[in-house]
Amino acid sequence: MTRVGVIGVGGMGACHARHVVDLAGAELAWVADPDEGAGQALADELGCEWVAEGMDRIDEADALVIACPDRFHHRYVMAGLERGVPILAEKPLTVELADAREIVDTEVALGRRLIQLGFMRVYDERHTQVADALEHLGAAQHIRCVHRNTNDGSRTVPQMLVESIIHDIHTVRWLGDDEVVSVATSVIAGGAGTRMIIATCRLASGAVAVLEFDDIATGYEVSVEVTAERGNVVAAEPLRALVRADGMVAGAIGDDWFSPFLDTYRVEMRDFLDS
Ligand SMILES: NC(=O)c1ccc[n+]([C@@H]2O[C@H](COP(=O)([O-])OP(=O)(O)OC[C@H]3O[C@@H](n4cnc5c(N)ncnc54)[C@H](O)[C@@H]3O)[C@@H](O)[C@H]2O)c1
Repeated sequence: MTRVGVIGVGGMGACHARHVVDLAGAELAWVADPDEGAGQALADELGCEWVAEGMDRIDEADALVIACPDRFHHRYVMAGLERGVPILAEKPLTVELADAREIVDTEVALGRRLIQLGFMRVYDERHTQVADALEHLGAAQHIRCVHRNTNDGSRTVPQMLVESIIHDIHTVRWLGDDEVVSVATSVIAGGAGTRMIIATCRLASGAVAVLEFDDIATGYEVSVEVTAERGNVVAAEPLRALVRADGMVAGAIGDDWFSPFLDTYRVEMRDFLDS
């Protein structure tokens, strides 16, 4: 039985902890969070121990889930690596590039892959269908990602890049099967601050990706379209009822990022526990 420790029990950490409890072959050893109210409530719900500081308990876990705020990822990931514990770390790996390099260098020196990053679109059926189609359509030539979020316009451009668009950059590297070699970005003002970022990326293969990210959209949406050597593929629309009334056809978009990916996070945890 794999004993899992979860660091940070906000929206993501609680989701991951519940999946650990639900899935066979794993046991939730402890949850760690400096917020006693949130930590103890989840521990009571899931029948495990709450600790304020996870650092002291890493030795009692066979696997770690790191879902605390981004700026603390580095210290916990490094501690997990030093003890040789497999880690599911939420994105972004770190906030500072030098910290990310230190982690990657440490993992490479250990000679085995211990870190899985929370880029969960590889477990999302709408995205995996696109990847499967590309097996037959050949190399990607143009990738178009649209990501609409429902924030209040107060996030800075670096926050939008590191917290959100990082998912789309991952999608481009995954479906494009290559590295991004150059990027040109346009920032569009709106609301209280930045509204949109449009990034045009060139991949080493010569393919081009255009990422359209809207931070203060009225609904949450993620979509991807790829034109490849022998055809084009567009991710399916999420299944939603279409209502015909009052001379209109209407369907709800939804405004949260969490519910469209609930099953996806479960499949992600299954894969982490199996690996
Ligand atoms: N993969 C995804 O789709 C996805 C989606 C949302 C968030 N995230 C990432 O997940 C992480 C958590 O995001 P969230 O939305 O759950 O945030 P959140 O604010 O809901 O929760 C963060 C929790 O961490 C706790 N915390 C603060 N300092 C801590 C510390 N030093 N040690 C342990 N816990 C600490 C807080 O008390 C809080 O309970 C972030 O890194 C975020 O970028 C990933």
